[in-house]
Amino acid sequence: MRDAAALDADDRLAPWRDEFVIPADLVYLDGNSLGMTPTRTSGAVRKVVEEQWPTDLITSWWEHDWLNLPLTVGDELAPIIGARPGEVVVNESTTVCLFQLVNVAIDLTGHDAPVIAVADTEFPTDRYIVDGIARLRPSVTVRRGLDDLAGASVVVRSLVDYRTAELHDVRAETARARAAGAVTVWDLSHAAGVVAVDLADSKVDLAVGCTYKFLNGGPGAPAFSFVRTELHDRVTQPIWGWFGQRDQFAMDNPFDARAGIGRMMNGTPSVLGLTAARAGISVTAEAGIDAIASKAAALANYALDLASELGLTCSTARPPASSGGHISILHHDAVALQQRLADRNIIVDKRDPDVLRVGLSPLTTRFVDVHVALTALAELIDS
Ligand SMILES: Cc1ncc(COP(=O)(O)O)c(C=O)c1O
Repeated sequence: MRDAAALDADDRLAPWRDEFVIPADLVYLDGNSLGMTPTRTSGAVRKVVEEQWPTDLITSWWEHDWLNLPLTVGDELAPIIGARPGEVVVNESTTVCLFQLVNVAIDLTGHDAPVIAVADTEFPTDRYIVDGIARLRPSVTVRRGLDDLAGASVVVRSLVDYRTAELHDVRAETARARAAGAVTVWDLSHAAGVVAVDLADSKVDLAVGCTYKFLNGGPGAPAFSFVRTELHDRVTQPIWGWFGQRDQFAMDNPFDARAGIGRMMNGTPSVLGLTAARAGISVTAEAGIDAIASKAAALANYALDLASELGLTCSTARPPASSGGHISILHHDAVALQQRLADRNIIVDKRDPDVLRVGLSPLTTRFVDVHVALTALAELIDS
């Protein structure tokens, strides 16, 4: 196994660490929950708070094009996930975007008694949204499990499993669902900014994802919705607000959805949240998703080799079967170990009851960080 310092010395992405605020002596391996702060974010937010908002006030919506920020940032994010211009909007939370797109998917199928398939192990918000929609729409039933999709109308699933980092084959799985007559809503939360996803080429119809993990958009940064261009005219989403209205300022008009991806918009967007998200997205766009994805694979392979050498038990497969965004280590004392690592300034996260997730964010994680964290963990387990 190569030495971590040598791997860092050869890492072409290493200079990108300078684009982030990185506290001294901190080993932060939780960028898969909340990415680190890009240095450019405070300047971008300060510009809005100190120059645009105080000076131009309400006219900023037009002067600084705040009105279209969800679409502008969506177009900047699009190439990172292999979407075409006009296919992505950044707005609301992942949960709200899921609610909108699962309803859209149900309507697209036109089935009288739609069946939504979702895995039992799916991230909670995705399962809750599906169950909540079934409660609101009595014709809808929910089926647990994705092995057999016969009879399914809609499939809701993550591209990357939040516990194990397993990466699914987006093209093959979208096609498998389509062959069964189902529309898939992909959740890219653990994929966007770390996996080189190609939504257009993979013929994906609908997708959502967050921007606060690998895209470093900041706490509570707005999420994104993707709708394939060819479907735009057929999409009717359930939250009718004035930002989704064709002529937003014709106040007396009844609702008439605007053309394009803008019809996914609801109410007034969070300009500050979008500004921070935009700064984070721009770092990833400039560094390049292919280089990022290849470093993620290298970090994960290194982490898995080291974990095995140290006798740690992992539930994560090697890339390309996993995303490279994190590895999961199983230990019955995960909760206490997480705290004891934190006492040593090493931040990882846990998923109860027995999973420690070691996040690998290619723009900020060094191979030496992985070495320090896993050796400390092995020491704590042995002590
Ligand atoms: C797969 C997945 N979906 C959704 C979410 C969260 O959704 P929201 O941004 O609405 O909190 C997360 C958060 O970690 C997630 O991992």
